[in-house]
Amino acid sequence: MTAKSIFIGVMSGTSLDGVDAVACRFFDGDMQVLGHSYRPYPQTLKDKLTAILAPGHNEIERAGALSLELATLYAQTINDLVSEGLFSVDEVRAAAVHGQTVRHCPQAGFTVQLNNPALVAELTGLDVIADLRSRDMAAGGQGAPLVPAFHAERFTGNVERAIVNIGGIANVTLLPALGSQAPVLGFDCGPGNTLLDVWTQRHCGQSFDRDAAFAQKGVVVEKLLNVLMADEYFVRPAPKSTGREYFNEAWLLNRFPALSTLKPEDVQRTLVEVTVAGIIRAVKQTAPETQELYVCGGGVFNPLIMQSLSQSGLTVQSTSVLGLDPMLVEAAAFAWLGYRFINKKAGNLPAVTHASGLRILGALYPA
Ligand SMILES: Nc1ncnc2c1ncn2[C@@H]1O[C@H](COP(=O)(O)OP(=O)(O)O)[C@@H](O)[C@H]1O
Ligand SMILES: [Mg+2]
Repeated sequence: MTAKSIFIGVMSGTSLDGVDAVACRFFDGDMQVLGHSYRPYPQTLKDKLTAILAPGHNEIERAGALSLELATLYAQTINDLVSEGLFSVDEVRAAAVHGQTVRHCPQAGFTVQLNNPALVAELTGLDVIADLRSRDMAAGGQGAPLVPAFHAERFTGNVERAIVNIGGIANVTLLPALGSQAPVLGFDCGPGNTLLDVWTQRHCGQSFDRDAAFAQKGVVVEKLLNVLMADEYFVRPAPKSTGREYFNEAWLLNRFPALSTLKPEDVQRTLVEVTVAGIIRAVKQTAPETQELYVCGGGVFNPLIMQSLSQSGLTVQSTSVLGLDPMLVEAAAFAWLGYRFINKKAGNLPAVTHASGLRILGALYPA
């Protein structure tokens, strides 16, 4: 074991709920999670991030100021984790900080994660690795999803498995059985929690539908489900990646202008089925032999999502049965990408992103 074998992964996803930091020790091809910290986004920050997701006035200055605010919060989350005393800071090799995606435009060749890694280095005293997506895009890839390589290393089993991360957006990784020569595939399959969160905010004044209490009151509106699922994103072949810039309230209203004639709880219930149908369609069309589905991300806490996924005939469980807390998977994946960067190893899977080859992902801001 080298002296500095710990990497901290810092993730803030499209849900805009907050920042997760996970410390992982990497040794002999294995990994151990040492600790976790989380800071929610203050409502004011959420509002500013929501606003900048749409084109608007004076974006460059707003982005600059937001980058500093985010970097300060990232550094605080890292410092919280270090101060838990679960490991020595001297053993931390680097922190890999994803940043907050505000534009993801693979067709135009760019992706923007707000962050100020120099400030994170300044406030934590750690080497910071940032900008983990753009190199894959420079090589012609989608720059996303980046987690499938980590899923493949941690979660491959004796039968074909799918891993689904249900954050703001949902992304699937399709893992061939151990020993198979088939490639690992993966892509963003559609909305995860983002539409559920937006609709709950609008009708209940809460940031998310805790335990699906609101959706449980409604029934699925087949007509709405069919219209939403007819969107070309769901049928477009991979590679594909998306974001809140696409799946948002405007998308809902554009596709179904009579939305206000429906009961809000029925819309919410139907949106659960949109998330589930996007996932199941992706798995069945891309890897029909899949037997097991493992869920991570906040969607794992939505009982209706889990119940409805189970009706597909697949065995549906949380990644916790594979030894990794579902809320830590994404941040742990970024810790792993940091470890790969420092060891000059590729982090992308060209079969997933369609980059022209394997690439080392990230840029270093020394302590
Ligand atoms: N108890 C719960 N019931 C329903 N949904 C939940 C619950 N806990 C978390 N979530 C959902 O999970 C989301 C956060 O998931 P997360 O994996 O952090 O997403 P992201 O990676 O986009 O930040 C919340 O916005 C919410 O929609
Ligand atoms: Mg989150």
